[in-house]
Amino acid sequence: MKFGVLGSGMVGSTIATKLVSLGHEVKLGSRNAANEKAAAWVASAGRGASQGTFADAAAFGEIVFNCTAGVGSIDALRSAGASALRGKILIDIANPLDFSKGMPPTLFVSNGDSLGETIQRTFPEAKVVKALNTVNAGLMVAPGRLRGDHDLFVCGNDAGAKAQVVRFLKEEFGWKSVIDLGDITAARGTESYLLLWLRLYGALQTADFNVHVVN
Ligand SMILES: NC(=O)c1ccc[n+]([C@@H]2O[C@H](COP(=O)([O-])OP(=O)(O)OC[C@H]3O[C@@H](n4cnc5c(N)ncnc54)[C@H](OP(=O)(O)O)[C@@H]3O)[C@@H](O)[C@H]2O)c1
Repeated sequence: MKFGVLGSGMVGSTIATKLVSLGHEVKLGSRNAANEKAAAWVASAGRGASQGTFADAAAFGEIVFNCTAGVGSIDALRSAGASALRGKILIDIANPLDFSKGMPPTLFVSNGDSLGETIQRTFPEAKVVKALNTVNAGLMVAPGRLRGDHDLFVCGNDAGAKAQVVRFLKEEFGWKSVIDLGDITAARGTESYLLLWLRLYGALQTADFNVHVVN
């Protein structure tokens, strides 16, 4: 398949590398078509890897990943263009973290709203599925590296898109347990979990952890 990955940071390049290793074609998008990090990724990833603007990557992908900084996600997606996203699954990994007042970051949207909902409202014809935002980049594509059972969460308004994403996460990324939390308003919970994630990161001194829900 063809994927557009918006974002040249750790998450974008990790997702893109995994997709290329699975035999997919990937265009990594940035504000600048000649972004140096994206160029380095293209040089190392090899066959199936290319780069471009956010608009190039969104137009290229049959499925699009949003791996941009939360504060820039709406701008990045606007420059990708609503028409390039129309009818497509948009897997939203971004978190609404505000680092402007230092560490720890706060959430710039929370409680009665979320970044996932903001994106879905702004791009009503995209099928936004919030996923993978609760684990670090390495774990997203290699969940098996943790001992024991652990869970991933998805939410979104389009049931068909969500089912396709769950299948993809299991079959291609190796996730064993994916919990469907319902419509996109559930992103309020998974994004706010970052406040706990950051404290766990401090307490455990590693980003290689996840949660398991027991009932
Ligand atoms: N790091 C993790 O392990 C992790 C885990 C879970 C979720 N997340 C979330 O995943 C997203 C990506 O994280 P990351 O650590 O890979 O990278 P990041 O540094 O948060 O984001 C990098 C990307 O955001 C774009 N960007 C930054 N400011 C922008 C703006 N004002 N307008 C448009 N685009 C802008 C950059 O564009 P250019 O390419 O043009 O520079 C770049 O592609 C974030 O939302 C983060 O919260 C991260």
